[in-house]
Amino acid sequence: MTDNMKNQRLNQLDIDFVRSCFPTFEQPLAAKTAFFENAGGSYVAGPVLDRLMHFYLVNKVQPYGASEILNTAGEQMDAGRTTMADLLGIATTDLTLGASTTQNFNTLAIACEGFVSKQSEVIVTNQDHEANIGAWERLCKRTEAKLVVWEINPETAELELDSFRALLSTNTAIVCMTHSSNIIGTINPVEQVIELCRANNTRVAIDGVSFAPHQWPDIPTLAPDAYCFSTYKTYGTHMGVMFTSEDFRTQLTPQSHYFNERYANKLLDTTGPDHASIAALAGLGEYFSASHSHHFGVSDVTLYEKALQISALMHAHETELCKHLLDGIVDLPITILGRNNTDGREANIALTSTKYTSAELSAHLAKHNIAAGNGDFYATRLLKSAGINDTEDGVLRISFAHYNNIDDVNRVIAALKEIH
Ligand SMILES: Cc1ncc(COP(=O)(O)O)c(C=O)c1O
Repeated sequence: MTDNMKNQRLNQLDIDFVRSCFPTFEQPLAAKTAFFENAGGSYVAGPVLDRLMHFYLVNKVQPYGASEILNTAGEQMDAGRTTMADLLGIATTDLTLGASTTQNFNTLAIACEGFVSKQSEVIVTNQDHEANIGAWERLCKRTEAKLVVWEINPETAELELDSFRALLSTNTAIVCMTHSSNIIGTINPVEQVIELCRANNTRVAIDGVSFAPHQWPDIPTLAPDAYCFSTYKTYGTHMGVMFTSEDFRTQLTPQSHYFNERYANKLLDTTGPDHASIAALAGLGEYFSASHSHHFGVSDVTLYEKALQISALMHAHETELCKHLLDGIVDLPITILGRNNTDGREANIALTSTKYTSAELSAHLAKHNIAAGNGDFYATRLLKSAGINDTEDGVLRISFAHYNNIDDVNRVIAALKEIH
């Protein structure tokens, strides 16, 4: 890093720098593709790839033991866990690493069987991905608790706080909701929900899978009981991250082997996910750090603060691109599901056309090497409630990541204009 770079403070994302941190862009397929399937899974940051490869090549063994090869494997896995906890500003004991968010929610719901009973109510939404509905529905079936659905306003597809207030009761044991929908992208009022739940002695589990790739979650400020997201959508390896508060864990039934119950971070770990993938998470810290010093100069703020600050630049960049897309297609016979502007939303656009099925739109974009899928993206209940009955065809989803550039967006606009 030059002296000049040490002192620089960039107030917008340096997109060329960002793309240089993702080796996938050097691959011929990615080089020709405008990639808008990011909500399905993102490209992986270079330092994560390096660490993944290193673990598989050098240390693909059980962690810890008498020999050096075992110890260095364990140290790399510890570094992965510690880095993820540091990035989130949470204690490593509050962090569970699972194979996916679906699996983490399933485990969490099973762990709630000790305090959810026949008298309890569990609130889910019909805006969520199925991962944060089905697990709770099954919990209610097992415990005979009542499943209460916080329904979207079908006109806007949004969740309204007044409807929530009407559902919260003295029997509500837990509220399970998404931070932002993987279809409509509106950021939900999770702060207010958590506050209402605190006052009501109710637990809150937040699905941050769709939110985290766009804005790094500030778990310490939010202070939920549980918060989950998937690192394969935040430029890392295929893992599910789950925060649970120490206080919440006192109510949960351990799901680990009995002899591991004394380790807080194993309490809800049922699978022992891929060791290399855990180790490689340390690379995410390197990516956020490198990106932070590139944009803000050398700084001794914590990794958590770095992640929040750099993520604010990423979000601003994506929002600008998203606005460009919305402006560019405003005159086309296209309906945006949710808000048709960038206020209070993630850069995640779901749309339908009056002229084509969503599958036809996706296929047309693919011909122009633009990757954007169609379907219900496992938010089937949301689509049905919003009046989209053919959920298989569903919506065309154009989901951004911070490494998208203006050229990517112009290609989408041109391709959509071409056929409308
Ligand atoms: C909003 C949302 N929640 C949960 C999930 C499930 O995550 P995972 O694939 O890690 O189980 C997804 C996956 O796409 C999602 O978009």
